Amino acid sequence: MPTTPWPKNIGPVLLREPREADIAPLEMVRNDPQVNRFMLRTSVDPSTFRRELLEIPQSATDFSCVAEVDGETVAIGFLEISDGMGQPGMPRGTEAGIGYVVDPAHAGRGIGSAVARGLLAAAFEHLGVRRVTAGCFADNGASARVLEKAGMRREQHGVQDSWHAELGWVDGYTYGMLAHEWRAQHR
Ligand SMILES: CC(C)(COP(=O)(O)OP(=O)(O)OC[C@H]1O[C@@H](n2cnc3c(N)ncnc32)[C@H](O)[C@@H]1OP(=O)(O)O)[C@@H](O)C(=O)NCCC(=O)NCCS
Repeated sequence: MPTTPWPKNIGPVLLREPREADIAPLEMVRNDPQVNRFMLRTSVDPSTFRRELLEIPQSATDFSCVAEVDGETVAIGFLEISDGMGQPGMPRGTEAGIGYVVDPAHAGRGIGSAVARGLLAAAFEHLGVRRVTAGCFADNGASARVLEKAGMRREQHGVQDSWHAELGWVDGYTYGMLAHEWRAQHR
């Protein structure tokens, strides 16, 4: 089982494993309508949120983290190892999906970008995955920008491929990056 990639500092942002004291502030953030407007799973039941966050350190595939700046918990970074798609014989667990939510009170300060870079570094340099993907609604300009600033490639613009609770069928983007692309950008 891979060991935890955390803690890791990206500039002033400390990425670390979640703990009990993070639950209350992060549950408020996760269920803030400004935040969950662009999440696939919109609101999260508080007891489910608590269980999922506290299970992360024991998981063999979930390496999500929380982000702290100056001692304050400000964001969640999602990092989950998965299988790709393929025929029998395909190596397992070579991909990871990433995502993030930043407390709106701290948005626009580079935290989302730092979390994305930290998740990619953890996935490629620590967990040794081959490929990382991330998706967002096409209307989520800030998220698309964060992924592009982190060096990911837009691989798909899915026309009306995504269901949005208020807007109906909308466009979605998928971004990807391979380990050798990460290494080329961080030599
Ligand atoms: C998306 C999110 C993570 C961004 O976090 P953040 O800490 O504000 O991000 P950063 O400050 O690192 O960078 C944001 C970038 O997006 C840009 N941006 C902000 N709003 C934008 C918009 N509507 N369209 C295009 N770019 C936008 C900013 O200018 C900045 O780019 P720059 O550094 O080149 O100026 C945060 O807003 C969030 O948590 N949103 C709600 C949850 C969410 O959408 N999660 C992702 C689901 S896919």
